[in-house]
Amino acid sequence: MNGYETRPLTDQFGIEIKDLQLKDVVANGLFPDLRAAFEEHSALLLRDQDLDNPTHIALAQLFGEIEDRKADERKPGEAFEVPEVSNIRPDGSLTDQMDLHTLNLQSNMLWHSDSTFLPRPALTNILIARVLPSRGGNTELASTRAAWREMPAALKSRIEGRGIWHRYAQSRARISEELAKLPMFHKWPDQHWKSVWHNPVNGEEALYVASHSFAVDGYDKEDGAALIDDLIEFCTQERYVYSHKWRVGDVLIWDQRAVLHRGTPWPYDEPRKLTSICVSASDEDGVADMRLSN
Ligand code: OGA
Ligand code: MN
Repeated sequence: MNGYETRPLTDQFGIEIKDLQLKDVVANGLFPDLRAAFEEHSALLLRDQDLDNPTHIALAQLFGEIEDRKADERKPGEAFEVPEVSNIRPDGSLTDQMDLHTLNLQSNMLWHSDSTFLPRPALTNILIARVLPSRGGNTELASTRAAWREMPAALKSRIEGRGIWHRYAQSRARISEELAKLPMFHKWPDQHWKSVWHNPVNGEEALYVASHSFAVDGYDKEDGAALIDDLIEFCTQERYVYSHKWRVGDVLIWDQRAVLHRGTPWPYDEPRKLTSICVSASDEDGVADMRLSN
């Protein structure tokens, strides 16, 4: 990032960019530099940011089209609301440990890339810390670009050239069958993506798999599921992982095409709120090239 001090987050990927206010990026034409850093490093951390919801939206729009999973639920004229990852109810009380909302938050603790189950998966998530618990609640990122680069041929050859199937209810069923039955997890047909995402800007390859993945071309159900687990396990070894301990005002931006992420537990009797805007990947970001027929 030209003209700004940066610090690597790990040996393999990710940088912190210092002394840059993202609200200025919205206003002053710095976006191409930020986007170039995103393509190169896969994850960007910016601390001590002062982004309100409108500026968060404006920043996201610089990356592309904002993902709007609730478009079908809103009445005409109702505005997009910035999604929250939160255990705080509208009345200020906290959701209960075992209720479906909390179980859904627990599904976020499975390694995933956002929205691989949508006809247009996510390019990025711009996540901002708003309210934090006294402990726990880190967000962890794993580089599937670094992992793919170093993957032993024996494992690589089991997946190379094969498509992977993705479904929202799959990741929910891993936590609770009851949760997986909710209509919100059945709005979209199964998606079928290549297993390796080629970054169109720099040609880097990354494995594309998630907790939403349920089948692999050419394997029966059980073997496909076992392969998905093996791949995720390989990619999320400590040497590919960055674990972020949040401070209020931190902003984390990552490339969903090359990074898996997960939340981690915290004491559920304490509030935690992040605001989260996903931007959909476009054909220029590589979606058209990734899509396999159903
Ligand atoms: C998300 C997500 C994890 C967390 O916002 O998509 O997975 O730490 N969040 O809350
Ligand atoms: Mn997520």
